[in-house]
Amino acid sequence: MNTLIAPSVLAADFANLQKDSEMLNKSQADWFHIDIMDGVFVPNISFGMPVLKAIAKHATKPLDVHLMIVNPDQYIETFAALGSAVLTVHYEACDHLHRTLQKIKSCGMKAGVALNPHTPISVLESIIKDIDVVCIMSVNPGFGGQSFIEETYTKVRALKALITEKGSTALIEIDGGVTNKNAKQLVDAGADVLVAGSYVFGAEDPMKTIEGLKSL
Ligand code: DX5
Ligand code: ZN
Repeated sequence: MNTLIAPSVLAADFANLQKDSEMLNKSQADWFHIDIMDGVFVPNISFGMPVLKAIAKHATKPLDVHLMIVNPDQYIETFAALGSAVLTVHYEACDHLHRTLQKIKSCGMKAGVALNPHTPISVLESIIKDIDVVCIMSVNPGFGGQSFIEETYTKVRALKALITEKGSTALIEIDGGVTNKNAKQLVDAGADVLVAGSYVFGAEDPMKTIEGLKSL
């Protein structure tokens, strides 16, 4: 499969989201990655529903919404109504993950589960067949522009093996510190979706940078 590229809007120009959204529409990006942080699950607050609504108005590609929030269940219908295509919750924030995933799917979205860097792949053994996207955090969630954690490669390989063993169709997404220095190795290890924030939006030519990631 062709690697999917999901630029993280967290690194976009918030004073000109229309312009950056149109750039992503024109680029080879596959998804818009949207980071929602609540200041409780992670030590930062990003943006909420009104900003997502503004992005959705301009985006012509699927919205991949990454919830870094406690109690995600209470907002599942709201994110569906706002046009999310993929809704990802954190394993660490869900007491009843199976129920949460069923609710996401019943609202017509793909269900994603994100794992913090310290959380082993093995926690997904009994639920992997219910997941559409596993997001492996390759930095501690909460901020863009951090350095990639090298242990991620081992986790990607372990997840790929689990997916194959269980006959799951889950995609493997990598989020945090992705650049041209690690992208190829991640894809070789089994990654299907690469999220990139500062590497794309900090580049002189973001469209070319996306093209570079896409053609790995
Ligand atoms: C981190 C977010 C990431 C972040 C990635 O908490 O989930 O999606 O925006 O940004 P970079 O690519 O700059 O690490
Ligand atoms: Zn993210």
